[in-house]
Amino acid sequence: MKILGIESSCDETAVAVVEDGRRILSNQIASQVSLHALYGGVVPEIASRAHVEAIAGLTEQALSDADCKRDDLDAIAVTYAPGLIGALLTGLNFAKALAFVLKIPLIPVHHIRGHIAANYLAFEDLKPPFLALAISGGNTLIADVEDYTSMKILGATRDDAAGECFDKAARVLGLPYPGGKPLDDLARQAQSQGVYKLPLAHVTDAPLDMSFSGLKTAVVNLAHKAEMTGKDLDRAALAYDFTKAVSNMIVPRVTEAVRITGRNIICAAGGVAANSIIREDLRRACEQIGAGLYLPPLNLCGDNGAMIAAQGYYEFLAGHTAGMDLNAFATREIA
Ligand code: KG4
Repeated sequence: MKILGIESSCDETAVAVVEDGRRILSNQIASQVSLHALYGGVVPEIASRAHVEAIAGLTEQALSDADCKRDDLDAIAVTYAPGLIGALLTGLNFAKALAFVLKIPLIPVHHIRGHIAANYLAFEDLKPPFLALAISGGNTLIADVEDYTSMKILGATRDDAAGECFDKAARVLGLPYPGGKPLDDLARQAQSQGVYKLPLAHVTDAPLDMSFSGLKTAVVNLAHKAEMTGKDLDRAALAYDFTKAVSNMIVPRVTEAVRITGRNIICAAGGVAANSIIREDLRRACEQIGAGLYLPPLNLCGDNGAMIAAQGYYEFLAGHTAGMDLNAFATREIA
């Protein structure tokens, strides 16, 4: 079954063709980073317009890369939530039009379910149940993936997402947007560790919940204080200590989720799952507790259309299709 996957929830227009939820035939991504870099963050209106401009051409390219004609498609899967509402609506309306004209099913896909499904593309033998750690620009959560389309949130951030925190920290360190990757590179140049003592929040009575806003504020304050007092800031050491603090918020909660649920497979997902230090810490922690860890390749961590098509396949098998009245939602639970 060939599914066209469309993703437009934030600042990447992405279209892919995937066969039977597992085999990528094409995976086109048009990044808008250069348009938003000037503002240091995503400007929703600019994002929506850029999606409109890119989506038709990108779809043609994805079909041609996959050596597919429109009539070869069996269904259209599209991200319907969560994300920027205007951006989502662009992809959604395009997907509706295609499904209507081609008379094929329209499949709504939750963006984070899509991120988790990136693992099905990378690891052909992987099957639920497993635990998923989704760490992206807009979401941070640990979920129990009981089956392809049935999952339960075990813990989530109470405030900022991990990626948002990376982007803000990177900004005050003078790094370009989006700052996750440049901050990762800077942290790897650190000559000293533990120079900056950063706060680590704990949510009482919710051991798997997370919080990043205090950490974000602490980094912003350190950078501003250094600027005002003219004191030198060891940017690489701060990038390292910051990343370690994010990792120390995430990794022990993942191992605690293993202990609580008894599941011993963990799949990472989302843009922040590309972070080299968090990947190393997850590997080490999972080895220590004897849990299996799946880390998708870097190109499947960030937003892409293939992950939407992959999850779309399983949503279709579960009978989750939609009519032309499908709407987009800026926020929506994964479960
Ligand atoms: O999953 P994603 O592409 O978009 C969302 O669904 O939100 O994630 C984007 C986020 C950005 O905040 C970006 O800075 C972060 O992922 N990111 C990283 C790295 N690469 C991307 N954060 C930390 N380390 C990285 N290497």
